[in-house]
Amino acid sequence: MPDISDYDKLDYDYSTYWEKREYENSAEKHILNKIFNPKHGNWFLDIGGSYGRLTSTYYNSYNKPIILDYSLKTLQRNKEIIKSKYPNVELIAANAYKMPFKDNSFDGGLMVRVLHHIEKPKTYIKEVSRILNNNSTYVQEYANKVHIKAAIKSVLKLNFDIFSEEPYQQPKRGSNEGTTESEKNIFLNYHPSHIKKLLENENFSIVKKYGCSFLRSPFIKKLLNENIMMFFEIIMQDMLSWSNISPSIFLECKLSKSEAENIEYADLKDVLHCPDCKGDLNIDQEKAICKSCSKEFFKKEGIWDFRVK
Ligand SMILES: C[S@@+](CC[C@H](N)C(=O)[O-])C[C@H]1O[C@@H](n2cnc3c(N)ncnc32)[C@H](O)[C@@H]1O
Ligand SMILES: [Zn+2]
Repeated sequence: MPDISDYDKLDYDYSTYWEKREYENSAEKHILNKIFNPKHGNWFLDIGGSYGRLTSTYYNSYNKPIILDYSLKTLQRNKEIIKSKYPNVELIAANAYKMPFKDNSFDGGLMVRVLHHIEKPKTYIKEVSRILNNNSTYVQEYANKVHIKAAIKSVLKLNFDIFSEEPYQQPKRGSNEGTTESEKNIFLNYHPSHIKKLLENENFSIVKKYGCSFLRSPFIKKLLNENIMMFFEIIMQDMLSWSNISPSIFLECKLSKSEAENIEYADLKDVLHCPDCKGDLNIDQEKAICKSCSKEFFKKEGIWDFRVK
């Protein structure tokens, strides 16, 4: 199993990352609101959803939203705040590579700002296609390796490696999302063609591509306030999303699964299964036991811990 970016080992409060990034936050939510606001469905999964930064964009469209994250501490720390704003949200600690859900359970899902921590995107995309239903909407965001600044820098250095489809591991620069220079840090930027192929191989079709955060630059941030930046961002999202110049790309995808049964799972315990062997679970208030492999899972301070590697 690939390595995991375990935020719990870093004791990092990810919400602090957003304190001075209102422009990027609004730019991302603008896209997600456009995608999810007209949608309707039952179960929805925010994979690597952390403290629920993006929950407002899908909460009113899906009846049963779940935030899944590998960081149990983040979910425990933010549980009360998330639940007070979004009472229907369930929080589950689990690994995106091995999710504790039955096949074809979800009508919608998203992964934003997490793929750079995913070393084996092919394995992950296969797993997410397993749990999503036929015709479900899935949004995959990724850090774009060939964005305009990176492309110009490479051409000036006469280094054309950037245009290969290989993922690009960002060099360690000081503290990055809580990791320090000495720690192993999975921080991958992906080539748009690579991600498109991986999604299409698992029967996702790309409904629409959106460029995002076109103006991400400390220099522009010093010159313009957030409202003016958003004014230009929206124009650029509308006019330049066909290109690969933005540092972040959102893909709105639809999954086609001809063989999927459309089962309406009513409760959380109905969608859950063992993340290790996919066996059925015996679930009570605080503990779940796999009927096949006997593995035990516990609720810890109100959050189910289904993390396996
Ligand atoms: C940069 S944060 C993004 C949070 C949120 N999606 C957002 O955009 O605000 C990355 C999150 O991915 C989670 N994560 C990293 N690897 C994971 C994995 N294998 N399974 C589940 N979550 C993971 C981390 O714990 C962290 O909360
Ligand atoms: Zn099991």
